[in-house]
Amino acid sequence: MQCARTMGTMTDTTDAITRFHLLLSQQGQELLARLAQEDLTPNNELKISTQLRKEYPVQLVLDAITQHQLRLKATVKFSRAMEMFFTKSGLEQSSSEVIAQYRAKRFTNIAQMADFCCGIGGDLIQLANSKSVLAVDKDPLHLEMAKANAKVYSVVDNISCIESDVRDVDLQTIEGVFIDPARRTTEGRLKTGDSEPSVEWCTDLLRQVKNLAIKAAPGIDHETFPSGWELEFIAIGKDLKEAVAWSPSLSNAKRRATILPTGHTMTEKPGPPVNVQMPGQFILDPNPSVTRAGLVEELARQLDAWKIDEKIAFLSSDAPMSSPFGRTLKVIDSLPWNQKQLPHKLKEHDIGVVDIRRRGLAGDVDQFHRSLKLTGSRTATLIMTRAQEKPWALICLDVD
Ligand SMILES: C[S@@+](CC[C@H](N)C(=O)[O-])C[C@H]1O[C@@H](n2cnc3c(N)ncnc32)[C@H](O)[C@@H]1O
Repeated sequence: MQCARTMGTMTDTTDAITRFHLLLSQQGQELLARLAQEDLTPNNELKISTQLRKEYPVQLVLDAITQHQLRLKATVKFSRAMEMFFTKSGLEQSSSEVIAQYRAKRFTNIAQMADFCCGIGGDLIQLANSKSVLAVDKDPLHLEMAKANAKVYSVVDNISCIESDVRDVDLQTIEGVFIDPARRTTEGRLKTGDSEPSVEWCTDLLRQVKNLAIKAAPGIDHETFPSGWELEFIAIGKDLKEAVAWSPSLSNAKRRATILPTGHTMTEKPGPPVNVQMPGQFILDPNPSVTRAGLVEELARQLDAWKIDEKIAFLSSDAPMSSPFGRTLKVIDSLPWNQKQLPHKLKEHDIGVVDIRRRGLAGDVDQFHRSLKLTGSRTATLIMTRAQEKPWALICLDVD
């Protein structure tokens, strides 16, 4: 592993790096290991911290407690989180292991990669699993953490790193670039759609390198990328996490929806228009990756289902539907939306707990929920939506 620093650093950055090196020192590691044995809670944090300050420097104790808390949060993203290093913004913006691992597979045939804006190394670790990767970030602390984290995953020998603005990096020997531009700065979140560097700048990298992938927020506008690019929306289970745009050489579809960790994936498949009809006996709520990828009609055709409204992403059928791309519910009542009548209907169906899903209909769900005062014994999903343009309610049960 080599490292090069091409930018000057400010005093506070130097201070952050010095403190990080102390965490990496034997004393820092010992302290982090001690914290891992403690059950640190808001109630006992002061007591534990006071005790540790008698044995270790105050700043080191504070930094170790912060790091320990970040590690605990990171366990939802990384299998080795308790050995890794994070900043708050680095963790928040990092790609989780399951997504980075999935995405890295598409670069299998590319030998020399660059990970632009590598942050704390979420993507870097997986890219470097099987190839040499040049890691670039302008934040020296993130770059140091990326190296430490690459060590945790035993891939540090496959990385070289440059502390630099990505705009200044020479790509002559690089065959592929993955870039995850920042969507927040130390001052906070950037406006929706904005990033540093901008998506336009990232897309323009295609002039220098053929194999390019750009990570984007899941709300990204489909029109952002020129034709020939693939836009993939990735969910972990039912939570939509991110989008990634693949340059033409890496693309094999226009739009794709992927669900991890199972790896179910679907792409556009043009076909006849899907019917719009009133709800039948079953409703399917598509996974958000399918909705964002604009593949609801593809899913309807796969399932022989219909749409309940031209603009609403609920599908319906009179036969039970089973798909990894959506959740099926059994409809027990289907009626025009009437806020006064609905509590009685829910009572008639012996509903005591209700999960309200609102799509395409305005209204204060929380206030309505609070006003229900349900006492029944069954759990239901109440869908508040439109059916053939009419405000509609569907009282549904889970399909076993
Ligand atoms: C979204 S994070 C990267 C997360 C990373 N992919 C991961 O999984 O851990 C973005 C990073 O971009 C860096 N960055 C922002 N603008 C940059 C620029 N112009 N040049 C280099 N790095 C930049 C930030 O310092 C931050 O570490």
